[in-house]
Amino acid sequence: MKLKAEQPDPFLLDARSKRMVEELDPNRMPRHIAVIMDGNGRWAQRRHLPRVAGHRAGIEAVRDTVEMSRWLNIEALTLYAFSKENWKRPKSEVSVLMRLLREYLHKELARLNRNNIRFQVLGRMDDLPALVQKDLVYGREETRNNTGMIFNVALNYGGRAELVDAFKRLAVRMRTNGLDLDQLNESDIEGELYTAGLPDPDLLIRTSGEMRVSNFLLWQIAYAEIWVTPVLWPDFRRQHLLEGIIEFQKRERRYGGLQA
Ligand code: FPP
Repeated sequence: MKLKAEQPDPFLLDARSKRMVEELDPNRMPRHIAVIMDGNGRWAQRRHLPRVAGHRAGIEAVRDTVEMSRWLNIEALTLYAFSKENWKRPKSEVSVLMRLLREYLHKELARLNRNNIRFQVLGRMDDLPALVQKDLVYGREETRNNTGMIFNVALNYGGRAELVDAFKRLAVRMRTNGLDLDQLNESDIEGELYTAGLPDPDLLIRTSGEMRVSNFLLWQIAYAEIWVTPVLWPDFRRQHLLEGIIEFQKRERRYGGLQA
């Protein structure tokens, strides 16, 4: 695959990443990549730092992954930043995470716009602190006309909660005769998910070696290829993303059918 001229700073790619880009088959690129960013705490622990130092270091990995995905013309990238279950963490850690998110948006908004990236949030936004909501809405509105890539951040997100929300909306439609139970099909459900209108993730990446899906995009990952890397999230960079895509391209996707 050739890097396109309009892609910013392709020369910043190290020689190994450049070789990896050349190795990619442009006809077999994932349309949507979803990432479970894991290992921030362990990264910090290994350095005798507080856990939040790992989250802060993780921001650089977010920036690199977003920009590399854009350069590769990925349609959608979804990062799992805060699950519904993460409220169980100490208050101080939660508030640093919220602050980091706001800082990220303040710092990166201009860059997201320059790179034609549309920012969106997946999750129950209403339960987030008011200032966070305000910044998220601002980021979403300011980038809403961008067409290069959709960048979703899953926040206060739970896959089961997403399904509950979808079923509630379907129930309302049924009650008001907007939908007939006998006609209910998979696309009706898809149309009520937070990801409505997006292709399902083709590739699900999890960092830090854990083999779990952790309530992430449960409906949407039905046929995703899963790639787990031992790399801890703060160390994750473009070469790891490329490694994941190369691995994805080696997989044979049968969707329950037989080998071609
Ligand atoms: C998991 O590591 C990571 C998180 C719960 C938070 C991820 C958030 C960021 C990288 C910062 C903000 C994100 C954006 C999109 C700007 P962990 O703490 O569970 O690590 P551990 O398993 O090693 O303890």
